[in-house]
Amino acid sequence: MIEDAAQAIGTEYKDGKRVGSSGTIGCFSFFSSKNLGCLRDCGMVVTNDPDLAERMKVLRVPGGGNFRLDTMQAAVLNVKLNYLDQWTNRRQENADRYERLFRQSGLVQKGNVQLPETVYRSSGVKHYHIYNQFVLRAEKRDALMAYLKQKGIGTEIYYPVLFHLQECFRYLNCKEGGFPESERAANETIAIPIYPELTQAQQEEVVEAIVSFYGK
Ligand SMILES: Cc1ncc(COP(=O)(O)O)c(C=O)c1O
Repeated sequence: MIEDAAQAIGTEYKDGKRVGSSGTIGCFSFFSSKNLGCLRDCGMVVTNDPDLAERMKVLRVPGGGNFRLDTMQAAVLNVKLNYLDQWTNRRQENADRYERLFRQSGLVQKGNVQLPETVYRSSGVKHYHIYNQFVLRAEKRDALMAYLKQKGIGTEIYYPVLFHLQECFRYLNCKEGGFPESERAANETIAIPIYPELTQAQQEEVVEAIVSFYGK
């Protein structure tokens, strides 16, 4: 099993195992927007298979060099790694606060927004989710996005174009409508700010702006 843990560094799953350690190979992204991000574009592959490790060491230097995770990026990541758990805790606190604020706002009850599910929340397991994104499902998503942009609140869609509709997979002849649930998700979801330094006042501002959008 190859785990794509690109957005999930620090997450624990079920048995408390950190993602990236359950399969034969685990992949992590250190792209700048990730929880542990470098200054540009790099990543890491881990494995507990010595033969694969040897092979991957060869593959990481195509053409004789690796110019992505260079020493500068490694130095940045080395320092940032010390803060990762602390940043994760803040993201989790922010997620908890959003959950409270959204429930108090009545938007969830009215069905305007749907919160991300946190399956193990009630079991008391920590680190079940590290919130690289805090993704809502929202009614009139595109209009909401435009409204929030006007108010200076950044949002994103992860991801607007689904695999089966990507140019590079055109040869598979998949059509729009072929994966209705994925397509619905791509049309309804919106990621709102969740980064560790986000303040309570900023989160209240985000929720109030969403309330005022649906109140219009
Ligand atoms: C789930 C997932 N897999 C893979 C990637 C690719 O990571 P990278 O940009 O480091 O190649 C991303 C990047 O956003 C991702 O979210």
